[in-house]
Amino acid sequence: MSTVPTRLLPDGLSTPALGFGTYPLAGSEAEAAVLSALEAGYRMIDTAASYGNESEVGRAVAASGLPREDVFLTTKLRGADHGYERTLRAFSASAERLGVDYVDLYLIHWPLPRLDAYADSWRAMIELREQGLVRSIGVSNFTVRHLDRLAEETGVMPAVNQIEMHPHFPQARLREEHAARNVETQSWSPLGRGDGLLTEPVVVELAHRHGVTPAQVVLRWHLQLDAVPIPKSASPTRRSANLDVFGFALSEEETASLSVLERGRTGGDPDTHEEF
Ligand SMILES: NC(=O)c1ccc[n+]([C@@H]2O[C@H](COP(=O)([O-])OP(=O)(O)OC[C@H]3O[C@@H](n4cnc5c(N)ncnc54)[C@H](OP(=O)(O)O)[C@@H]3O)[C@@H](O)[C@H]2O)c1
Repeated sequence: MSTVPTRLLPDGLSTPALGFGTYPLAGSEAEAAVLSALEAGYRMIDTAASYGNESEVGRAVAASGLPREDVFLTTKLRGADHGYERTLRAFSASAERLGVDYVDLYLIHWPLPRLDAYADSWRAMIELREQGLVRSIGVSNFTVRHLDRLAEETGVMPAVNQIEMHPHFPQARLREEHAARNVETQSWSPLGRGDGLLTEPVVVELAHRHGVTPAQVVLRWHLQLDAVPIPKSASPTRRSANLDVFGFALSEEETASLSVLERGRTGGDPDTHEEF
């Protein structure tokens, strides 16, 4: 079994340096995959109310027999639940589905600026943290403008912004802004969903050079850019391989050679994307 190193969130909480993504795993497949991921050594599980698999994730954590404090659980507030009171209720429902007394990291899934309610949700998340129901609070898919508005209105900057990031969309500018504000970058679709990225000649060449797989090269790129990747795989073999990225390193030039693969985002634009 691999052991994942830990790192510190800006608020001092210790978190695994790499997690397991659960979208679009559903039903018994989700439960089995999360249990097998925990058995393989994953200690951070990323779910969301909108993924419809929180109950399965919770059952897998319980079935693993691991002490609750050994598993770092992230879930997210869906668009339909933006607003102060709705956020409090949505959190209770998520915690109930997960079967836990507290969640380690609670994120606002998308800012949905047209609704203009994310700051009210953020006030509720601060309250949840003060009540000890959430250990750390953050956001996902926020731009710098959205982040700064939260800090200006509440005095609390999110500890984490989980964003689309992979060598086809390296997010250099936003990562710099995160560093300036002490916000941790988590990368979703860290493997670019496998689409084309893992067969890029430079990725394949680096994999040969280091005797690893293309996916391992890409995950190592995230770690070296100080980002926390949360790869998803339905395959036990690929899940284990995706964890085994702490025994080699890319040089600075090699890391930079991947970042020039930039093409643009594949997911929604945070200023306009709406999902509820
Ligand atoms: N916050 C957000 O808005 C947001 C948005 C999207 C995703 N997420 C989170 O981020 C997680 C990861 O993102 P993602 O699932 O979109 O993309 P991803 O992890 O970049 O890619 C997953 C795809 O890559 C394949 N894959 C995994 N490991 C591989 C390997 N070693 N070699 C070759 N192919 C491999 C998987 O296929 P197999 O399953 O067949 O292995 C799957 O098709 C999600 O599960 C979710 O938890 C968050």
